Amino acid sequence: MKLKDVYPLYLNNKAVQPNTDLDVIDKFTGEVAFRTALATPDVIDEAIAGAVRAAEPMARLASFEKRDVLTHCVTRFQERFDELAYALCVEAGKPIADSEGEVTRLIDTFRIAAEEATRNYGEVQPLDISARAKGYMGMWKRVPIGPCSFISPFNFPLNLAAHKIAPAIAIGCPFVMKPASLTPLGAIIMGEVLAECDILPEGAFSILPATRAGADLFTTDERLKLLSFTGSPGVGWDLKAKAGKKKVVLELGGNAAVIVDKDADLDHALARIIFGAFYQSGQSCIGVQRIIIHADIYDKFRAMLVEKTKTLVAGDPKDRKTFIGPMISEKEAARLDGWIAEAVANGAKLLVGGKREGAMLEATLLEEVDRGARAYREEAFGPVAILSKFTDWDQALAEVNDSKFGLQAGLFTRDIHKVLDAWDHLDVGGIVVNDVSSYRVDNMPYGGVKDSGLGREGIRFAMEDMSEIRNLVIRRT
Ligand code: SIN
Repeated sequence: MKLKDVYPLYLNNKAVQPNTDLDVIDKFTGEVAFRTALATPDVIDEAIAGAVRAAEPMARLASFEKRDVLTHCVTRFQERFDELAYALCVEAGKPIADSEGEVTRLIDTFRIAAEEATRNYGEVQPLDISARAKGYMGMWKRVPIGPCSFISPFNFPLNLAAHKIAPAIAIGCPFVMKPASLTPLGAIIMGEVLAECDILPEGAFSILPATRAGADLFTTDERLKLLSFTGSPGVGWDLKAKAGKKKVVLELGGNAAVIVDKDADLDHALARIIFGAFYQSGQSCIGVQRIIIHADIYDKFRAMLVEKTKTLVAGDPKDRKTFIGPMISEKEAARLDGWIAEAVANGAKLLVGGKREGAMLEATLLEEVDRGARAYREEAFGPVAILSKFTDWDQALAEVNDSKFGLQAGLFTRDIHKVLDAWDHLDVGGIVVNDVSSYRVDNMPYGGVKDSGLGREGIRFAMEDMSEIRNLVIRRT
C-alpha cells in the first residue's frame, strides 16, 4: 500500500491545490509521509460563503437523495477499506488492527446516517388544552439549522469526522470542516468520495486543513449557525467563549473510571480493561484511566492486570502483532511521562511500564496515586491507568464522580440493583455494564456532562443539534 505524495483540500465540493504547505508525518517513523494543501483565511471565507449559498438547496434535497449520497459513501468506503486503514495507520500511528476497526465504524456511521436520512419525523400536538385554544392544533417538524462548522480531532480522524459529516448530510446542512492538522487525510478522502456525488449543491461541503492560528473563522464567523468541536477540554471551552450566537456542541475529554465489583467475571474484565485502557495507546476520550476494584479481589486482579500488561507488544503500528504504537507526538508522550514521574515522586507505586522512547510510551499501571496528581485529575489521553480499592458501593460511585469530567463509566457487576443505583447517581453521559467506559456503538447517544462537553452525537442526536424545530399552528374554522 502506498499513499500519494500530495493531497488537495476540498473547497465548495471541488479538489483544489493552492499549495502543499502542510507536511504530515508518519507518526512511527517520524518521516514526512505526504503533504496537503493548507487553507488560508481567504479560502475559509470562500468556503463559508459557498456553504451559505448551499443552505437552501441542501435543505430542499429529498430524503432519498440524502440517503443515496450516504449510501454511496458506504459503498466507496467499503471499496477503499484497506487504503483508509493504511492512511490512519500512517498519519495517526494507530495499530493496523485498530485502524481497520475504525474504518468498520466509519462504515457503520454512514450506514446509520443513510437510514436516519429518511426518518426526520415531526409530531402532531393537540393544542386544545383550554377553552381559548379550542379548535387549534399544532405540529412541528425539524428543519436544517444552516451552514455548520466542524472541527475534528486526531485520535479518530475518520470516525469522529464522520460523526459530524454524516448527520449534516442526513439532515441537509452544508458544512465547512477543519480536520486535525496532524491527521487530515481521513477527512480529505471523505471529501474525495463526497465530490463524486453530483446531487450535492456546490458549497455543500469544504474540507480544509488549516493551522489553529489561521482557523478563527470556523469559530467566530456569524454566518455559521452551529459549531461542533471534538477535542481537548481546554480548547473546546475556549472556542465556545468565542463562538458568538451560534449553537455549540462540544465533545471533549474525560478521565473515565471503571468499577470492578467482587462478583465480576475477572477474566472478561481483565481482557476488556486492558483493551479499554491501552488500545490506540490510550488516546480515546473514554479510555479507562481509573480502575476502582473491590478490596476482596484487589490483590488478585492487580496481579492479573500487571501480568497481562507486560505481554502487550509495542512497536511499528503497521505490524499486525503490535498492540501499542506511538502516541501522536513525542511532545504528548513526554507530557504524560512527566505526569507519571510527578505521581511517583508524590508517593504513587509504579506497577508496570513507565518507560518512554520518543513518542513510544509503555503501557503503565500505577496505584496509591495522590488525588491531586495530574495523572489522576486531568485527562491522561495516553497509555496510563490508575488502580484504587473500594469496600462500599456508594464509595465506589463517589470515586467515579470525583472528577471534573463526566463522559462514560464502566461497571463490572452482576447485581442489577447496583447497576440501577449507578444509573441514577453517576454524573456521566453514559454507563456501560459489564464492559469498559471505552465501549461505543455509533448509533448510541454519546457525549458528556461537566467539563466533558455539551450536546450528544450518535447521528440522530447530532441531527437534532443540527436542526431547529419549526412549529405550525392551525385554527380549524
Ligand atoms: C472519543 O475519543 O471521543 C471517541 C471515542 C470513540 O468514538 O470510541
